[in-house]
Amino acid sequence: MKNMNPKIIELPKILDKRGNLSFFEYPQQLPFQIARTYWIYDVPGGEVRGSHAFKNQDEFIVALSGSFDVVLHDGENEIKYSLNRSYYGLYIPKMFWRRVENFSTNSLALVVSSTLYDVNDYIRNFEEFKRMKNAN
Ligand code: TYD
Repeated sequence: MKNMNPKIIELPKILDKRGNLSFFEYPQQLPFQIARTYWIYDVPGGEVRGSHAFKNQDEFIVALSGSFDVVLHDGENEIKYSLNRSYYGLYIPKMFWRRVENFSTNSLALVVSSTLYDVNDYIRNFEEFKRMKNAN
């Protein structure tokens, strides 16, 4: 899938008096197969995570609890997505600079990734990211 754009994906919501349930599967909700899952929690007030881009990995982020903002930059423009429901996820294709900020108390960010962890997949310099993005 080339030139994909970030998008909010609404997940199924099974309403139940005993408590609600949501899920995602490839390929019905997710545009990629999951290779890895991690989560971010116990974030102190005011902290910012993930100021970087990935050369290859796609990610999907869900605010399982609480809320936070995912700010994406495509090399020209920045868009902020506020995640605050456990039945919405944000799909982030490769080659978007992102930072995650404004975490509420006790927020829990679930992230599924299309690849295994690879330190060489990170672009940590914003100027280098812009050069690579504009060269595409
Ligand atoms: P990193 O992705 O740099 O976090 P953030 O972008 O949110 O600041 O990851 C922080 C540390 O965790 C880094 O030293 C590598 C380690 N890590 C893994 O070992 N496996 C993983 O799947 C992830 C996401 C991170």
